[in-house]
Amino acid sequence: MDAPLLRQECFIGGTWQSGPDQLDVCNPADDALLGTVPLLDKASIHRAIDAAEQALPGWAVRTAADRAAVLMRLHGLMLSHLEELASILTAEQGKPLAEARDEIRYGASYIEWFAEEAKRAYGEIIPSPAADRRLFVLRQPVGVVAAITPWNFPCAMIARKIAPALAAGCTIIVKPAEQTPFSALALAALAEQAGVPPGVLNVVTGDAAMIGAELTASPVVRKLSFTGSTRIGALLYEQCAPTIKKLSLELGGNAPFIVFDDADLDAAVAGAIAAKFRNAGQTCVCANRILVQDGIHDRFVAAFADAVRALPVGRGDCDGVRVGPLIDDRAAARLESLIADALEQGAELVAGGERLPGSLRMFTPAVLQGVTSKMLCAQDEIFAPLAPIMRFAREADAIALANDTPAGLAAYLFTRDAARQWRMTEALEAGMVGVNTGAISSAVSPFGGVKLSGLGREGSRHGLDDYMELKTMWLAA
Ligand code: SIN
Repeated sequence: MDAPLLRQECFIGGTWQSGPDQLDVCNPADDALLGTVPLLDKASIHRAIDAAEQALPGWAVRTAADRAAVLMRLHGLMLSHLEELASILTAEQGKPLAEARDEIRYGASYIEWFAEEAKRAYGEIIPSPAADRRLFVLRQPVGVVAAITPWNFPCAMIARKIAPALAAGCTIIVKPAEQTPFSALALAALAEQAGVPPGVLNVVTGDAAMIGAELTASPVVRKLSFTGSTRIGALLYEQCAPTIKKLSLELGGNAPFIVFDDADLDAAVAGAIAAKFRNAGQTCVCANRILVQDGIHDRFVAAFADAVRALPVGRGDCDGVRVGPLIDDRAAARLESLIADALEQGAELVAGGERLPGSLRMFTPAVLQGVTSKMLCAQDEIFAPLAPIMRFAREADAIALANDTPAGLAAYLFTRDAARQWRMTEALEAGMVGVNTGAISSAVSPFGGVKLSGLGREGSRHGLDDYMELKTMWLAA
């Protein structure tokens, strides 16, 4: 494709570097080759760690306002290159162009937010317990950070790690997903234009297991931020133990989407469409199980299924498409097996679930009703355009069903009852709860989960804490 920001080399220590071996990057809509990126060896990963280590003192010592100015230039460049970034993103990831544009704006909003927060990284003066001593708390950058990011949001998940890292005064090595490295490299090209100094931001590509092992084993890397599956998150957690790294883990979810009898039906349907089918169901905060109370169940299923049937499916670069292709064949096979498992166990397919004729991995969005907790689609994170509907009678049943999962990232509920809005929010085991809304992602709010969904929070004023250490100073007067 013709895009000046489509870089096919890695960015290490401020220079663009190729390697002897290459990885192909293909469009998930048709498997067309978009380009290649280096399959780096261990020595190159260590060059990136060294570059980040060398750049650290010079970057950390800059004023917060100075670092913020660089980030604001990057923010401006992202917005002025929005169309090009969005077409690179859609080409490598598959999502509809409108969603890709939203993702670039969403990613840029993290850069802007943390540029502003950099200037508010206040320390503390603690009233001293002794008359002859004063007590202060300083906030300092953690040091060299490694970030491992997923393919489902190839721009925003990187932006929300590099922004707080750079704002705090850390340097960073980013390892993007193998399927979607071009959005990361495009961001590095813009960071270079924005004046991010050499070594402050490095992007490495190649074998995930090798790169993960080298980054986590290095004593120079003081923090790892990972977004991805709980299985890989647990592995990285273990790998970080010997060097006691600070960790941010944003892992899998299994979000309940609860519709009570007193809900506004139209709002609940619109919320479920937004929460379920964004990025073809491939987000960790997607509604995974739709729990509907007896009194509204049949009306909700009918209205929701009609809305789902109206969603245009196709290539992300075609006008009007709302549901693009799945990322790869494994994801497509998994969707088919989840539907087959549910049907075998007695669920009913109300809409969709078919591969588009002639397409590699595009599916009409599916709705299942009569789903039970025993079915795989209720137990596992679906990560595909499949909406399983379960029925419940009482509020207590909804809470029990909703919390019956080891995951705890997002939850949604629709009810007009104000007391129930608070009661449910307090009872749900999740890091984020959407009440009468299916959209909960923003740079200004803490993003993260409880239970097996991870550690730490990204975004908001708390997001900077994960990249800073507290240092206590006792001063004898
Ligand atoms: C994710 O799926 O990992 C992130 C989704 C979001 O930020 O809304």
